[in-house]
Amino acid sequence: MCGIVGYVGQDNAGPILFDTLKRLEYRGYDSAGVAIASDGEVLVLKSAGSISDLEKGYIDIGSPGENRGVGHTRWATHGPPSTKNAHPHTSGAVSIVHNGIIENYLELKEHLIDQGFEFESETDSEVLAHLTNFYYQGDLAEAVRAATSMVEGSYALAVMAADSSYLVCARKDSPIVIGLGEGANYLASDIPALLPYTRKVFWMKDGEIAIIDEEKVDIRDKFGDLVPIHLETVDWDPKAAEKSGYPHFMLKEIHEQPKAVQETLASRISEIEGDVKLETGLSDEEARRLDRASIVACGTSYNASILARYVFPRAAGLPVDVEVASEFQSIQLKPSTLLIGISQSGETADTLTALRRGRACGVGSLAITNVVGSTITRQVDGTVYTRCGPEIGVAATKTFTGQLVALFLLAIRLGRARNFLGCEDARKMLLELTRLPGLIQEVVDGRERIREIAESYADTDRYFFIGREFLYPIALEGALKMKEISYISAEGYPAGELKHGPLALVTEGTPVVALATYGKKIQTNIKEVGARGADVIALATAGDPDICKIATTVVEIPETRPVFSAVLCTVAVQLLAYYTARAKGLPIDKPRNLAKSVTVE
Ligand code: M6R
Repeated sequence: MCGIVGYVGQDNAGPILFDTLKRLEYRGYDSAGVAIASDGEVLVLKSAGSISDLEKGYIDIGSPGENRGVGHTRWATHGPPSTKNAHPHTSGAVSIVHNGIIENYLELKEHLIDQGFEFESETDSEVLAHLTNFYYQGDLAEAVRAATSMVEGSYALAVMAADSSYLVCARKDSPIVIGLGEGANYLASDIPALLPYTRKVFWMKDGEIAIIDEEKVDIRDKFGDLVPIHLETVDWDPKAAEKSGYPHFMLKEIHEQPKAVQETLASRISEIEGDVKLETGLSDEEARRLDRASIVACGTSYNASILARYVFPRAAGLPVDVEVASEFQSIQLKPSTLLIGISQSGETADTLTALRRGRACGVGSLAITNVVGSTITRQVDGTVYTRCGPEIGVAATKTFTGQLVALFLLAIRLGRARNFLGCEDARKMLLELTRLPGLIQEVVDGRERIREIAESYADTDRYFFIGREFLYPIALEGALKMKEISYISAEGYPAGELKHGPLALVTEGTPVVALATYGKKIQTNIKEVGARGADVIALATAGDPDICKIATTVVEIPETRPVFSAVLCTVAVQLLAYYTARAKGLPIDKPRNLAKSVTVE
């Protein structure tokens, strides 16, 4: 979605706003704007297009400004990308930037027009500027409180006024993180924006209002009472949010997977006990009372969830329902169900809503996320962090493998707690899991072969990805990656299902990626598509004597337990999508129409 930033300190706000905005560009990149205090007024610069272009305009006019300001990078919802729809929106002395959706904006707009306010944009956000101005009589925080009490919907809102020396922000169902510096304070939609400036942060909660000046930050609840701040120290290295010589964040993040998986595993495995230490929020007794898990997630996180459908029954004796969060029907939940939300960002609105609905049935809940302190962590009884470091590329990569590994760990933990999985079996699985970082590195090292394949099919208009059982989610993920960044129509299918319809689309030369590190039946499916002229790109275990006879091309995957080969195949399909998009010269880190964090339903 959109990204917002703010700065109050001793330096000129302009360069800091542009720098922090660029670090949030993955949240939205169709237009941008800043409002900077300047000579007792507020200078507003905004336009459709990139933040860098906007910054050039700012430098051309001599980089004016004083020590406070707010900024915005937009992913359009109400009104197309244009200068007038870009934020900040201004009314009188007040300028605002907003992330979220104001659902009752039409009604409020009519009311404000009756009061004599003139609207310039087609956005829902502009009502927040006029409402705040309407209530503003010298106390900006009070004006923001009054304005936000009128609106329905979601908002992460940052406000400044020409005649106040501080910024005010407010949140409901959209994230704001506040960073504390030395003689300067910051706000942003997400942590990576703040990493070069401070790592002392806290996340605002719904209904809170923050008053930020260069010396301090006051947080007030909806009654206006001061609330204590619980600071967290982010241990992400600022370099982790830089490209560090890679042409794209996506490639960097693919390469980071051995380390990311190592971090997901780190200090969680007890080899002696054949068990896993996880912050599930569940006692062994509670785990034994469960008879089902229900997982909600979106996009890539949803694909990861499907793995649990195959792994949890086998390792923990626990059947799993998986639901796209926006389609979740919570009515089915019994108290003996464990509700799990999976979200890289921890801020996806559809997932948060599904979790809220599910929890209303009185079930225990758990989150798997990558972002410490994100909203999802406050909605659940326990959180398992994937610990992959910041992910900037819009297409999720290292956090997907982190989620797969976290699900393996969770399955083993539940299996042990429920006395379903024996110590020795768990030990063997854990031992093999610790080999994964090295094996992932082998797949990454084999990237030139995948690059050649990608380049030879870069002009195709259609891809299929097929897999069975625990390789089926990887087929879905391969297709999603291909669609997202290379704009090639791609379908991920259960291999056995292809013959029930989609096979009609397979013609001479159609590339079909077959995830073939496990099972014999996939060989039949490879022959089926081969007989219709498909070019089969098989991902097969190194040395497999059969697959090379029936596939057009084979990418060798290092040998491991079949179920863990899902992680290794993932890396191969990520590289395939990456090199396809690169051969086509596409904007890999910022694919059209997409945003990394989708904070509206
Ligand atoms: O932050 P989340 O994991 O909740 O995000 C869910 C999806 O929006 C996300 O996975 C999306 O599909 C990515 N673009 C995938 O690459």
